[in-house]
Amino acid sequence: MKTAAVTSLAVALAGLCNAYQPLARNPAPPSTKCKCYPGDKCWPSDPEWSSLNRTVGGRLVKAIPPGAACYPSFNGIPTADPAQCAVVSAQWSNSTWMADQANIPMTPVWSNNTCDPTTAPGTGSPAGCSNVCLEGFLSVYTILAERASDIASGVEFARKNNLRIIIRNTGHCFMGRSTGWGSLVINTHRLNSIEFNSKKLPDGHTGGTVKIGAGVMFQDVYPKAWARNLDVLGGECPTVGMAGGFVQGGGQGPLSGIYGVGSDHAVSFEVVLANGRIVTADDKTNSDLFWALKGGGMGTFGIVTSATFKTYPTVSVSGMSLHITDEGDRFWEGVRLWYTMAPSYTEKGMYVWYSMSEGALTVQPFVAPNMTAAELKAVVDPLLDQLRAANVTFTTTPIQTFSKFGDLYNAMWETTHHASGLGAFWGGRMISQKDIRERGDDIVQAYRDMSARYPGQVAFGGHLVNPGHRAKDPQQKLSAVHPVWRDTADIEVFLYIPPPCQSAEQRAEHERRVTYDLGGLLRNATPNSAVYPNEGDINEPNWQDAFWGPVYPKLLKIKQKYDPTDVFWAKASTGSEGWALQDNLKLCKVK
Ligand SMILES: Cc1cc2nc3c(=O)[nH]c(=O)nc-3n(C[C@H](O)[C@H](O)[C@H](O)COP(=O)(O)OP(=O)(O)OC[C@H]3O[C@@H](n4cnc5c(N)ncnc54)[C@H](O)[C@@H]3O)c2cc1C
Ligand SMILES: *[C@@H]1O[C@H](CO)[C@@H](O)[C@H](O)[C@H]1NC(C)=O
Ligand SMILES: *[C@@H]1O[C@H](CO)[C@@H](O)[C@H](O)[C@H]1NC(C)=O
Ligand SMILES: *[C@@H]1O[C@H](CO)[C@@H](O)[C@H](O)[C@H]1NC(C)=O
Ligand SMILES: *[C@@H]1O[C@H](CO)[C@@H](O)[C@H](O)[C@H]1NC(C)=O
Ligand SMILES: *[C@@H]1O[C@H](CO)[C@@H](O)[C@H](O)[C@H]1NC(C)=O
Repeated sequence: MKTAAVTSLAVALAGLCNAYQPLARNPAPPSTKCKCYPGDKCWPSDPEWSSLNRTVGGRLVKAIPPGAACYPSFNGIPTADPAQCAVVSAQWSNSTWMADQANIPMTPVWSNNTCDPTTAPGTGSPAGCSNVCLEGFLSVYTILAERASDIASGVEFARKNNLRIIIRNTGHCFMGRSTGWGSLVINTHRLNSIEFNSKKLPDGHTGGTVKIGAGVMFQDVYPKAWARNLDVLGGECPTVGMAGGFVQGGGQGPLSGIYGVGSDHAVSFEVVLANGRIVTADDKTNSDLFWALKGGGMGTFGIVTSATFKTYPTVSVSGMSLHITDEGDRFWEGVRLWYTMAPSYTEKGMYVWYSMSEGALTVQPFVAPNMTAAELKAVVDPLLDQLRAANVTFTTTPIQTFSKFGDLYNAMWETTHHASGLGAFWGGRMISQKDIRERGDDIVQAYRDMSARYPGQVAFGGHLVNPGHRAKDPQQKLSAVHPVWRDTADIEVFLYIPPPCQSAEQRAEHERRVTYDLGGLLRNATPNSAVYPNEGDINEPNWQDAFWGPVYPKLLKIKQKYDPTDVFWAKASTGSEGWALQDNLKLCKVK
């Protein structure tokens, strides 16, 4: 039987970007070793905040969490508003609405689930849920930036006053990097310009470029590109930002099998540095920074205000969906047959989106860029024959061919998983073709064991694709990503859903389960794999090696050059090892 939790897991996959470190039980060091926080002597005075507000054109806000409308008060301010509460409750799983918010994360565990409308008084939530709406892990002040100079002013102010900066774009980070208590949030989501240019580039590229503001999401740029018969290499989730976490962590999407890693296609960035200067980074100017921003770490080198990417003439694409619903051994045999054939899809440049929980696998869809229906049929027929021979229960949709990717995306994509507001902890792994070829059966057994370990609480999602199929980059010149990116067959995430309203101790136990019980099973089964720094466990052991491998030492030098005093800090991102969060609140030096 499928539990309600698993059903909601299965539909809510593949998405949010959360972060949280295991509860550090060490006493706080002297405040000089920490960033400056509310209540500290060094915290700026009201007139200083007002002065910052004037510098940023009145765009400094003290954001009240939207869910406060469902509670009596927030920080002593009466907030109950049933009509507004109904709106917030209805929009909670709408990721476009969530992206527009000032400082809350799409994955509520990173705000400490504070002011959650789904567990507010009167919702029938279980005992132990809070009746009050508190700050949780959120920040007080947010700059809703509209221009690069707003961002530069925010960086200056934070550096002078030793404040922690949180860069918040869409809030997608399901690893929690875009949330932080007591920080100054610099919200980039309102920088939403989009400009196409058809000029030939010095490297010979003739497909044109698009320059986007830092806040632009795929759903903003895709329709505009498709209308011009162009493709941009973006991700599958419409509300992920293209110039923020995506490109700085690498980035993968439905066309990665033919075009490579998302960051391979960046041509130039405009960046606010730690010293407050606004600079260009491209292959001529600040070329080391340019390279590092291409997959080398999110939220750590500077704040990108705009980015330019190559565009390409659209190619035709074929697609098909597959659903396996079965039980026990037969279900997992179906998964095994489909999964161990992953290299046969990736070596054709295909991309296969899936979500999976015990008893149900949704593959929606197989994406076959530049392949005819007959070519896709030749790839999937051997799989379907084997599923039939094994008596696995499945359905498929007819293979369809579209003249451009956008038409397939609009017609075939699974859309229910774009939900925000899901209270889960995430892990993930970027599983190499080598591991799937050599030990595919063991990997599927690991998925089964993970699922059985916490029944009804674990689900999976992923993308079978090899960004190195065409774009090889053996010297890491195109992007600063882990070399395993170029031999990947599955960029996989798993999620673990705890019961609602957990204490700090219970929470620590849930995180331990993700990192060691579940993550451990997967790590053991995939010794030649790595982790996509945007789609993994924020507590991944040896994250420097898991996320960046041999590329990391060079990235660390660039971080130290551009930000020697750690004005920017993001959990488990490049150069973050000198600091740690104390009980998820204060950021303090540990070295
Ligand atoms: C439902 C869902 C689907 C996803 N699908 C894909 C996918 O198809 N392909 C893929 O590659 N990834 C995917 N991701 C992962 C996604 O790329 C990351 O979550 C990414 O970090 C989101 O970036 P953001 O800027 O939109 O979000 P945010 O959470 O606002 O920011 C993420 C990180 O980037 C930093 N950052 C944001 N903007 C800037 C900036 N302008 N300058 C410097 N740092 C900045 C933040 O500080 C934070 O560390 C998906 C995530 C979700 C939740
Ligand atoms: C900043 O200024 C604007 C416009 O004057 C005002 O509405 C807003 O409340 C101010 N923000 C803060 C935090 O005081
Ligand atoms: C989701 O949010 C966006 C932005 O607020 C809004 O325009 C859209 O109508 C919402 N969608 C639904 C289904 O409510
Ligand atoms: C986080 O939530 C837990 C459970 O409600 C609570 O015990 C704890 O005090 C909260 N921490 C903060 C900083 O709000
Ligand atoms: C698509 O396929 C054609 C014919 O095989 C080939 O010439 C072309 O380069 C391919 N385009 C891309 C973008 O891979
Ligand atoms: C599939 O079912 C058929 C008919 O019931 C049976 O003969 C066959 O042995 C089954 N095959 C497997 C692999 O279970």
